[in-house]
Amino acid sequence: SGRCVVAVDGPSGSGKSTVSRRLAAALDASYLDTGAMYRAVTWAVLQSGVDPHDADAVIKVAGDIELAVGTDPQAPHIQVNGTPVDRSIRGPEVTGAVSAVAAVPWVRQLLVAEQRKLIAAAPRVVVEGRDIGTVVAPDADLKVYLTASADARARRRSAETLADVAATAADLHRRDKLDSTRAADPLQQADDAVVLDTTELGIDEVVSRLLALLDWRV
Ligand code: C5P
Repeated sequence: SGRCVVAVDGPSGSGKSTVSRRLAAALDASYLDTGAMYRAVTWAVLQSGVDPHDADAVIKVAGDIELAVGTDPQAPHIQVNGTPVDRSIRGPEVTGAVSAVAAVPWVRQLLVAEQRKLIAAAPRVVVEGRDIGTVVAPDADLKVYLTASADARARRRSAETLADVAATAADLHRRDKLDSTRAADPLQQADDAVVLDTTELGIDEVVSRLLALLDWRV
């Protein structure tokens, strides 16, 4: 079949990553994790000793680095100036600072431009983030907005990171608030997004519903 772009947005722990990777594999499509790009810039900011709240200094770091993004859904990866950062960007330091970095409008402009290039280069692609259906790919063939109860999200995230559930719930709450109240491209549901609550739905069920929607639409 032809070109196909699927936008998957939602808060942390809503199942975005697992669903997006599975869907991409089923469609034989690429998978673009835009959160990893904000995390990689944040890693570089911390690495250079810059305060993540110092927007001017953050902009300078972001403009000076080279990101390399691999979009195979079986083995996504990301490098900063040739250094693989896949593991370090999932640590608590980066997670604690990423929302501040992602709130800087110029950082967003830079990464959105790179994301659009990566999307244009792929015949089929599943893209996950916070602003994909609203800003990055407003003309996507299918827009999905995943939600889940705060409890379910905290439980899933802490199972992944092995961090304490209560601490994880507090961190998710903090990031959701920052991500949905920032001025530049906040986390938002697109008007034409299909909303799925994954609290009670298994991953397989979500993926098969999305595949059914795509057959019907594309
Ligand atoms: O999806 P993930 O939790 O890895 O994203 C990390 C952070 O990156 C989010 O909390 C948000 O601050 C930022 N982000 C964003 N826009 C996106 C993807 C992620 O602002 N499209």
